[in-house]
Amino acid sequence: MITGIKGMNDILPAEIEAWHFIEACVREVFHPFGFKEIRVPVVEKTELFCRSIGEDTDIVEKEMYTFADKSGNSLTLRPEGTASVMRSHIEHKLHILNPVDRLYYVGPMFRYERPQKGRYRQFHQIGAEIIGEPSPLADVQLLNMLWRFFARIGINDAVLQINSLGCPGCRPRYRQALVDFIAERLDRLCGDCRRRYQHNPLRVLDCKVEQCRDAVQAAPSVLDFLCPDCGTHFNTVRRLLSNLAIPFEVNNRMVRGLDYYCRTTFEMIASRLGAQNAVAAGGRYDGLIESLGGPTLPGIGFAIGMERLTLMMDTTRIPASRPLLFLAALGEKAVEKAFLLLADFQKQGIGAEMDFSGKSLKSQLRRADKLQTPLVLILGEDELAANQIQVRDMETATQEKVGLESLRTFLASRWPHHFPQA
Ligand code: HAM
Repeated sequence: MITGIKGMNDILPAEIEAWHFIEACVREVFHPFGFKEIRVPVVEKTELFCRSIGEDTDIVEKEMYTFADKSGNSLTLRPEGTASVMRSHIEHKLHILNPVDRLYYVGPMFRYERPQKGRYRQFHQIGAEIIGEPSPLADVQLLNMLWRFFARIGINDAVLQINSLGCPGCRPRYRQALVDFIAERLDRLCGDCRRRYQHNPLRVLDCKVEQCRDAVQAAPSVLDFLCPDCGTHFNTVRRLLSNLAIPFEVNNRMVRGLDYYCRTTFEMIASRLGAQNAVAAGGRYDGLIESLGGPTLPGIGFAIGMERLTLMMDTTRIPASRPLLFLAALGEKAVEKAFLLLADFQKQGIGAEMDFSGKSLKSQLRRADKLQTPLVLILGEDELAANQIQVRDMETATQEKVGLESLRTFLASRWPHHFPQA
């Protein structure tokens, strides 16, 4: 038996309703905010991710699926969506058409992480990006959309945490304070942190190793180092979130695992997810587009982990789709006639199924029961000869003989909700 790849999951038919529901909610919630969908390839040149996410992040150092194609080009399965969307935005000069662009995407991402509950090697993200808008109103609009999305999905126990990472003007001062702080505690840090701290001290704050977390518990707060502009930006975000009645916590330890962020960063934390508790995350990346060779445009965005979302959702609220009708036919001629009726219902968009094998009525009814179809149409040789059909209501276990000619009118009069008048 050839099995699937560790950490890469099949989404089986029994689970798909939840995914369809989420995807429908994305469109329903995002479109009124002016977001348009963009679809980019799942493979990009490796350099794109190294330059945007950062050479000494866990993602780039350890987690990328990188390979050489047959021409020797180094390609990578995308570990996230922001870099690809920015690459596409720059390449197609989308800013000329829309100085402010609101884009979203839904699709698989790939990271070679150790699989566990809520952490996979292929996982799916719903991402949204606002490109070209420096105002803190964009930050709040994006967070409001994220908040509305969670409410629509029916998740109300995730906590929004926010922070500011400052800008290239004020970050160096914080960085230096952090390097000085860490330098005094080096012996307590893991190998990765000791190697990275000079170059990228923020990574130490993000380290998952227990002893590193303890060592940096009293590290200086980034919020004490913000320049006046970054301070005002962050205060406006906080004030407007409160005005919109969106609850949040400030977490000055949140640095995020990707290097492109500045100013506002945020995560939606769900404690019942266990160790992998961030169900969504994002932030501002004002220098990213320029650093990739594009125009000087600010940006802010988020990505929601779809698997983590499904783990949190109450899936019993999602109605399972089931066929409305089951056609049970007995005898060769009746099977052929029923097959035509089946095709006609399907043409009209009415969910209908039948068993082609001509099994006993009992076994066909059992199948209909399993499919939970509310109605069964029974066509035997006798009914066929009389140009009639039996309509069985599975809920009341009652049935009625109806002329084949008037079947559609009968169904429409009895169940107008399911069978609109033809
Ligand atoms: P991220 O924090 O790396 O950010 O990922 C966002 C979300 O994707 C996480 O909060 C989590 O729900 C989900 N996720 C990440 N890795 C895995 C995994 N191995 N298995 C399952 N779910 C996972 C980004 O990717 C940024 N691009 C977000 C962003 C958009 N920032 C600005 N715009």
